Amino acid sequence: MQTFDAVVIGAGAAGLFCAGIAGQRGLKVLLLDHAEKVAEKIRISGGGRCNFTNRDALPANFLSANPDFCRSALARYTPADFIALVQRHRIAFHEKHRGQLFCDDSSDQIITMLLREMEAGQVQHWQPCAVAAVRTAGDGFELDTARGPVRSRQVVVATGGLSIPKIGASDFGYRLARQFGHRIVETRPALVPLTFDAADWAPFVPLAGVALEVGIHTGQGRRAGRFTEDLLFTHRGLSGPAVLQISTYWRPGEPLQIDLGAGQDLATQLREAKSLSRRQLGNELAQWLPQRLAGAWLAQQQLPAERPMPELRDRDIERLAQALARWTLIPNGTEGYRKAEVTAGGVDTRELDSRSLASKRQPGLFFIGEVVDVTGWLGGYNFQWAWASAAACAGALAAGIKAQ
Ligand code: FDA
Repeated sequence: MQTFDAVVIGAGAAGLFCAGIAGQRGLKVLLLDHAEKVAEKIRISGGGRCNFTNRDALPANFLSANPDFCRSALARYTPADFIALVQRHRIAFHEKHRGQLFCDDSSDQIITMLLREMEAGQVQHWQPCAVAAVRTAGDGFELDTARGPVRSRQVVVATGGLSIPKIGASDFGYRLARQFGHRIVETRPALVPLTFDAADWAPFVPLAGVALEVGIHTGQGRRAGRFTEDLLFTHRGLSGPAVLQISTYWRPGEPLQIDLGAGQDLATQLREAKSLSRRQLGNELAQWLPQRLAGAWLAQQQLPAERPMPELRDRDIERLAQALARWTLIPNGTEGYRKAEVTAGGVDTRELDSRSLASKRQPGLFFIGEVVDVTGWLGGYNFQWAWASAAACAGALAAGIKAQ
């Protein structure tokens, strides 16, 4: 039976990075994955250009039942550290929007970089190779894999979340966590479009493709989310960065509040319009909103699009401005894991050590990346968590072997 210092299960962002660092620290590492291809999510990320980090990533950009958990790993492996690695590999990149860094060319460059780092660490890489069972044996673990049994002092679970099952996502990490007595914070699709009841949405179906900047808000207290981003109408509901961001905070049954003016003082502007313009209300609103949206929104609110602005009373204008700033909608669900960029929830961090990502229940067992209950905003944050949690774990793997 082959013996390793560490077996990493899952050759995605976190697993590849962790295996490379641990190998370069002198550990004998095996990385295995049940999928045909390596790092499929990196390949499709960022529209094929991989938004590989966010320059401004902070703990406040992550959600978790235990919000402080991510601090340690994020502080010890920062966006600047990953940018330095990307630069060492001569990968050209650019900033697109609010600190989001993308490859100029292709996300394949990030995969190649991670594979080179693994080669430098002489990591063994078995793929496709499923794992049927993991059990404790002596001072380590025994794994039944599709290529035979292996023994390892340490096991790292980097099997990601449930989104996009057709490219390899599985619940393996959660099952393994439960096997060793870990609790799972309920999982749900996140960074995902939201849907509405078909009858309620019918008036907005013709708006599919319309986009505009909005303010968006949901939840209360610690669970409140608030963003100003672009919103996109779809045939079944809403998408675009504003909605993907808010979806991570949204819970079934809760309303969304959308500020169609994106923070502008619409009451003042509408009062001015009333005194200056003889336009009809629908045409006036079309100065601020896409014309088709202005019409559909006024119809939904049962407001008279044809009424000339001067005929509106001041209190009508106040009400109109308030309704535009607080358009309240209750989604009936999400587009699910099929369309979700990430899975919120996961292995409960209260049973993991925040410096090393080690299990507090089973010595030698580690959980990194998206399988852990740490979920980043849209914009490169989830990869930064994958890199940071992988680096924290790799350091601990090396220290664990040296200590023996
Ligand atoms: P990841 O999912 O990358 O890897 C898990 C690996 O485990 C997979 O290779 C899988 O095959 C393997 N596996 C699963 N079950 C297994 C089993 N039973 N046995 C063996 N192997 C198993 N984030 C970001 O920061 N910037 C971006 O631009 C994007 N863009 C983006 C686009 C799309 C379409 C999606 C779906 C997601 C993103 N993301 C993103 C999110 C990002 O891709 C995600 O958070 C990271 O890939 C998570 O890294 P992990 O290594 O934890 O899981």
